[in-house]
Amino acid sequence: MMAEVSNDRSQHGMWSSRMLFVLAAVGSAVGLGNIWKFPYMAGDHGGAAFFFVYLICICLIGFPVMLAEIMIGREGRMSPINSLRQLARRNNLSQGWGLIGWFGVFTGFLILSFYAVVAGWILFYVFRMFSGEFNGVDIETAGGMFGDFIGDWKQVALWFTIFMVITGVVVAKGVNKGLEVVVRYGMPVLFLLLLVMLIYGITQGGFGDAFSFMFILDFNNLGLSWDSLVRAMGHAFFTLSIGMGAIMAYGAYMPREGSIKSAVWVIVVVDTLVAIVAGLAIFSIAYAHGSEPHGGPALLFITSASAFGNLPLGAIFGGLLFVLVSIAALTSAISILEPATAYLVERFKLSRWIVVTVCCLIAWIIGWGTVLSFNAWQNLIIIPGFGDGTFFAVLEFLVDSFLLPIGGLLIAIFVGFILPRSKVKTAIEISTEWGMKIWLALIRVIAPLSILVIFAITLLRLFGLTELGA
Ligand code: TRP
Repeated sequence: MMAEVSNDRSQHGMWSSRMLFVLAAVGSAVGLGNIWKFPYMAGDHGGAAFFFVYLICICLIGFPVMLAEIMIGREGRMSPINSLRQLARRNNLSQGWGLIGWFGVFTGFLILSFYAVVAGWILFYVFRMFSGEFNGVDIETAGGMFGDFIGDWKQVALWFTIFMVITGVVVAKGVNKGLEVVVRYGMPVLFLLLLVMLIYGITQGGFGDAFSFMFILDFNNLGLSWDSLVRAMGHAFFTLSIGMGAIMAYGAYMPREGSIKSAVWVIVVVDTLVAIVAGLAIFSIAYAHGSEPHGGPALLFITSASAFGNLPLGAIFGGLLFVLVSIAALTSAISILEPATAYLVERFKLSRWIVVTVCCLIAWIIGWGTVLSFNAWQNLIIIPGFGDGTFFAVLEFLVDSFLLPIGGLLIAIFVGFILPRSKVKTAIEISTEWGMKIWLALIRVIAPLSILVIFAITLLRLFGLTELGA
């Protein structure tokens, strides 16, 4: 039996302050999801309409699930698997609840595998932009350049491996010497660069168009399909890093002082603001160059790259944009790796270096499926109807639309129905009667029900019972 944590500290270390916990959680939340994925998803799924659905999901599902995750982590003070077991044991519940943690670890490997590939593309583009290769390049040429790059599996594998190694080294160094250092220095630089990009975007003249695209609803043409609805919910999970235990793992290192509620507010608001600002900056730059903000996963690499190539000082600002995204990707990737690492350290009492090597190797092997999705396996349809059906598209859809929501649903059930209500009330510091009512409504009814409804839609869609969305 695992020893009870008597001194209320995690064996892996603790964030030096509450502020650092918030910064680390924001670092986890803000990532490729905000700067690469959100703009192209909004671009392809109806702009303002997509954004509003996404906001609703963030408030009704994201907020309570994140609160629940951090609470489990902070009470358990161990890796997600063992924190769940710890809470189950203390309340005479089945150890089977630890399976939620296992499920998250499995999901984490899948996420890390494709996350590191896309982050590798980003790293390569830092150098590509700064070199001035895009100066004067039009969209078609930029498209060709991107196609040639991702078509060359050797190049992609090289950058993907570099990113994986960097992530592994940071996590292996541990909570205080690794994660915290990257967060402490990375996040301020990230915010600064984001501000620079926004100002640059505004000065280029496409801001008005970008703003209306993102915020003005066109009721005659919402551009919203069933598919968009599902993707908006999936994205809410992905962007907040919830549903797999990443935030739970971070919660285990959160100091006792300070409320979880206010931390969650900050994380959710900052994450959303970053997505908005990144979207506005990227769309402004696209519009300033006369392009539409569509283009799927290639938006950043083709539309933005060529836009920068044709704007004043584009090579520098374009390079800075990719530096910004690289930092965001790193502070997220480390949180995807932490739950499995912490568990294996607890389980086998091995050093973090050994455990991280094993974990990175597993994710690296799975990652080849994504590397090859754009070249050798480009035409290999794994499951039809999941995006374009490639390994990458299937993985992404599976994670966003099934695995993370299922994880979130199980967490909501565990905290909402299984754990004793009074303990949860104390742990998340709800003091008022109506506060408790709102909390219970969210965690027991609204969040689980919304997830279930959206699942039903996905299933109907997959089996062809509703019209296929965009
Ligand atoms: N939230 C990050 C992003 O938007 C990605 C991420 C980090 C994540 N940790 C996670 C997604 C855990 C799901 C689960 O890029």
